[in-house]
Amino acid sequence: MKIAIYPGSFDPVTKGHLDIIERSSKMVDKLIVGVLNNGSKNPLFTARERVEMLNEVTKNFNNVKVEAFSGLLVDFAKETNASIIIRGLRAITDFEYELQMAQTNRILKNDIDTVFLTTSLEYSYLSSSTVKEVARCNGDISKFLPEYIAKKVYDKFKKEC
Ligand code: COA
Repeated sequence: MKIAIYPGSFDPVTKGHLDIIERSSKMVDKLIVGVLNNGSKNPLFTARERVEMLNEVTKNFNNVKVEAFSGLLVDFAKETNASIIIRGLRAITDFEYELQMAQTNRILKNDIDTVFLTTSLEYSYLSSSTVKEVARCNGDISKFLPEYIAKKVYDKFKKEC
């Protein structure tokens, strides 16, 4: 069984992430979306909230499972029997960081390979931070996020005010 992990912060999940999830889920038997539970990024949503939101927007993909993890990605891969790490490349600026991560992970665990998918052009500019910035100023984020997630983001900012 070919198992892959698509790891990230997903704070929140965007249409760009969903594009990668949809395409990579077709390449493997099982795709685990790994939600990093890491306080250092000071996330808008808790890990539990991010898992719940991802579960909702991936419910139609039969072979996708969402799980939170902390610690090293390679350890999470070992626990879940995954042999592939999926990452999206939006622009050349992502490359250096991604290459460094992929090489480090391979040194830590040499039976894991990272596979890069080029992000679809319409999402190549997108990041969770810019979406949050637009939402904070009450801008229209409907082009960037599924409707369900956009509502959660607006609700969060309402609560914060
Ligand atoms: N569409 C839209 N946005 C995308 C995207 C896509 N296809 N791909 C990446 N992004 C954005 C994210 O929204 C995020 O934006 P933000 O910084 O504004 O929030 C940014 O790109 C990068 O985030 P993400 O993909 O979540 O990566 P990350 O750098 O936060 O974390 C992990 C990457 C989780 C894989 C890495 O930190 C990790 O493995 N951590 C575990 C600890 C570990 O093993 N460390 C050693 C690794 S060498």
